[in-house]
Amino acid sequence: MEKYVINGGKPLQGEVEISGAKNAAVAIIPAALMVDGVCRIENIPEISDTDMLLTILTHLGAKVRLINRSTIEIDSREVRFCDAPFDLMRKIRASYYLIGAMLSRFGHAKTTMPGGCNFGVRPIDQHIKGMTALGADIDVRNGFVYADAPDGRLHGAKIYLDKVSVGATMNIILAATMASGRTIIENAAREPHIVDLANFLNSMGADVRGAGTDTIKINGVEKLHGGSYSIIPDQIEAGTYMVAAAATGGEILVKNVIPKHLECISAKLRETGTIVQEYEDSVLVKSNGNLRKANVKTLPYPGFPTDMQPQMGTLLCMANGTSVITEGIYDNRFKYVNELRKMGADIQVDGRIAIIEGGNALTGAPVMACDLRAGAAMVIAGLCASGTTEIEDIHFIERGYENFVGKLRALGADISIIDFPDDTENADKVISIG
Ligand code: UD1
Repeated sequence: MEKYVINGGKPLQGEVEISGAKNAAVAIIPAALMVDGVCRIENIPEISDTDMLLTILTHLGAKVRLINRSTIEIDSREVRFCDAPFDLMRKIRASYYLIGAMLSRFGHAKTTMPGGCNFGVRPIDQHIKGMTALGADIDVRNGFVYADAPDGRLHGAKIYLDKVSVGATMNIILAATMASGRTIIENAAREPHIVDLANFLNSMGADVRGAGTDTIKINGVEKLHGGSYSIIPDQIEAGTYMVAAAATGGEILVKNVIPKHLECISAKLRETGTIVQEYEDSVLVKSNGNLRKANVKTLPYPGFPTDMQPQMGTLLCMANGTSVITEGIYDNRFKYVNELRKMGADIQVDGRIAIIEGGNALTGAPVMACDLRAGAAMVIAGLCASGTTEIEDIHFIERGYENFVGKLRALGADISIIDFPDDTENADKVISIG
């Protein structure tokens, strides 16, 4: 077992290069399954979620070739329908994209119910509603999803999503790309990674229009051809370093970003008194030494992202005054608060609202990464705290941050990974999957 050990209290200084977007990559890799040719994908983040998806594709017969650290080629010409490694599927949320991709490519799919960070109930009813409207027979039983296009191909349809869902929007795009006729998704999510998936598919011969708005139109094509594509930079990884700069009282030039995608985060940081300067493909974040309180409500894009809520919660512990966070997406995304309290934070939670009495200095403590972004929040807390913070369950963090420790060390952080014995090896364990 490994954990992070952080000796805090040092402002982060320097430059950091942002990797490709996790939530785009985890849809684009399954989408490569639909391509009857070789696709070259650049800017793939080196994280465990992408590793797992590439392993799943390999089991299905795709040939995956590593060109360099962040570029791969996927040749799906000889893929075949078979049972994929269900133990891997169960571990990641994004395995739900295999439903859309396999239905498109094979006319049927068998996947596990997706894993994912435990923020409360995370249904996939909107995915199922969309695929059913396209003509699929879907059966969920014993933890598996069985999907079948009765005559081998789905048919375009008009779909109105009852909830703005990133996953359902992207999954329906995948399923509709090679369906016959036209599909219209209304009340679609608008996140940058939805545009990225559409751009990837279009560069392989698909006809997906309107991604980035709430109405997406897909004219089905017979097949996709090979091509080359580069994934956008990760909005949440960038936001995490931006918040870390502000929280530690430092200054970081965050490079290889699309500043437009960061506007919701930049605006909130400015409210706290942090200086944020935008350049063409970088942002400079600089503390002014005096953090002010702010209220945050998470919303679908272009609102403040729920995936930045825990990191911002940590920063607001350092800000003077009382801040209120309202979680607008998930029922249970404040589990990290208990860990922050162990470090001296004063936070009250009532349902989807957290009230933070800021300005109390944090002190190092042994804590857990409850999930991916909660883990990032604990790292930021450890960097700000006096003394030593030890963070366990770091496998959650490694799902979504490429070379987190290396990048933080280059910014002057005193953080290392150490091995420790797994005392619970023989005990009954409940594994919470991130
Ligand atoms: C994706 C991201 C996750 C991010 C989230 C919101 C991936 C792999 N994960 O998750 O990092 O936190 O977007 O930006 O890209 N809902 C339903 N029925 C459905 C689908 C969703 O009720 O069929 C609800 C969810 O419970 C949640 C809300 O809709 O309350 C939004 O969920 P959604 O946008 O679908 O998130 P995910 O795709 O799971």
